[in-house]
Amino acid sequence: MTETQKSATLSLNGETYELPIFSPTAGPDVLDIRKLYAQAGVFTYDPGFTSTASCDSTITYIDGGKGELLHRGYPIDQLASKSHYLEVCYLLLYGELPTAAQLEDFETRVTRHTMVHEQMHNFFRGFRRDAHPMATLVGVVGAMSAFYHDSLDVTDPWQREVAAVRLIAKLPTIAAMAYKYSIGQPFVYPKNDLDYAANFLHMCFSVPSEEYHVNPILSRAMDRIFILHADHEQNASTSTVRLASSSSANPFACIAAGIACLWGPAHGGANQACLEMLKEIGSVDRIPEFIARAKDKNDPFRLMGFGHRVYKNTDPRAKVLKQSADEVLELLGVEDNPLLQVAKELEQTALNDPYFIEKKLFPNVDFYSGIILEAMGFPTSMFTPIFALSRTVGWISQWKEMIADPQNKIGRPRQLYLGETMRDYTDIEKR
Ligand code: CMC
Repeated sequence: MTETQKSATLSLNGETYELPIFSPTAGPDVLDIRKLYAQAGVFTYDPGFTSTASCDSTITYIDGGKGELLHRGYPIDQLASKSHYLEVCYLLLYGELPTAAQLEDFETRVTRHTMVHEQMHNFFRGFRRDAHPMATLVGVVGAMSAFYHDSLDVTDPWQREVAAVRLIAKLPTIAAMAYKYSIGQPFVYPKNDLDYAANFLHMCFSVPSEEYHVNPILSRAMDRIFILHADHEQNASTSTVRLASSSSANPFACIAAGIACLWGPAHGGANQACLEMLKEIGSVDRIPEFIARAKDKNDPFRLMGFGHRVYKNTDPRAKVLKQSADEVLELLGVEDNPLLQVAKELEQTALNDPYFIEKKLFPNVDFYSGIILEAMGFPTSMFTPIFALSRTVGWISQWKEMIADPQNKIGRPRQLYLGETMRDYTDIEKR
């Protein structure tokens, strides 16, 4: 971030104020309003942060107009085709692609942390079997702060490192346990000779009574889904993690806060909602009815998996996933899957409809991921937990960046107060 010679002038009540301008390495210039309240006595108003940069960051860059997503400068489609998830985790966490030795060391560290404290098994058993796995995930990840006392001190860089590795390593185990618990099957321990994605499939789909061989094409597809969800700059759940940790709360509690935010259908919950919508549409002849509903201002229905705050072009992750969906369904011999037919037709119809063109609404990451996950055998309730476990590295990378930033201070937005001014209390009999 460099402060240029440029500045903006604000005229207010006969006074002028110079606002410095920062030029990022990519993206629009940023007005520095940090001293505005102290100097001019006014706040800025920006609900939903549509015009506000909440931090500076070097991790992820999105060009919404071009439909471009870069992690540490590397385009997402190159990472999805050439890299694998743990290498992308290393890149996000440490800023550069690892050497072979660095990667081996990192993979070993993650792999050695995949088991959860045995007593956590009892903790799971306290939940109802029909609990949504996201409810279980929020609770269990928050409870990690009660189990791993040696990595709670956020002022200690070593403890931060241990917490980061623990979270990345254990989230698949916890998500798989939430799934196994919900279907009444025994928990499956991680298998450290499998890679990250294959191990997750093993923990979800194997049972003690049978041999389970992970299909390498499916584990590659799983790995690609993990990569595509790994980070997405200052989205709602990442901002939640940053805000929660700005008070120096412990990392497990902060990631639990991020998981809670991700759960909503406008964010990570959209993948479940999208597949449910495709099932409700059911056949291509019903598409016009749902397109009409999405356009009707009096109908709260929205086309799930469409639209994005930042992308005003196709989400680059959706392009990769569309191709993955074709590959996975072909491998599984279900290429004529009716949901995929509905999805493709719906996408075409929406992309040619003036409403969606004018509002720049394109398919997002959630549009095709659900079809792949369902074909792999996951129930819809597991879609958002899979998003959460993939995004953990993004949350952790942003958290580490924030804690190490000397400018870090507690997040405390202001407000435009429109309530009553001071008035006297009225006794109950007089109201
Ligand atoms: N279907 C129909 N209309 C839509 C849709 C949609 N999916 N998305 C936005 N619009 C309309 C909206 O009604 C509004 O119209 P108008 O200007 O006439 O009031 C306009 O487009 C702008 O919408 P907005 O809600 O102001 O835009 P936003 O940037 O606040 O919301 C969004 C972004 C992703 C929440 C929204 O597009 C949406 O609800 N999409 C469906 C849910 C979804 O797929 N979410 C996943 C997002 S990507 C993964 C993730 O972040 O987790």
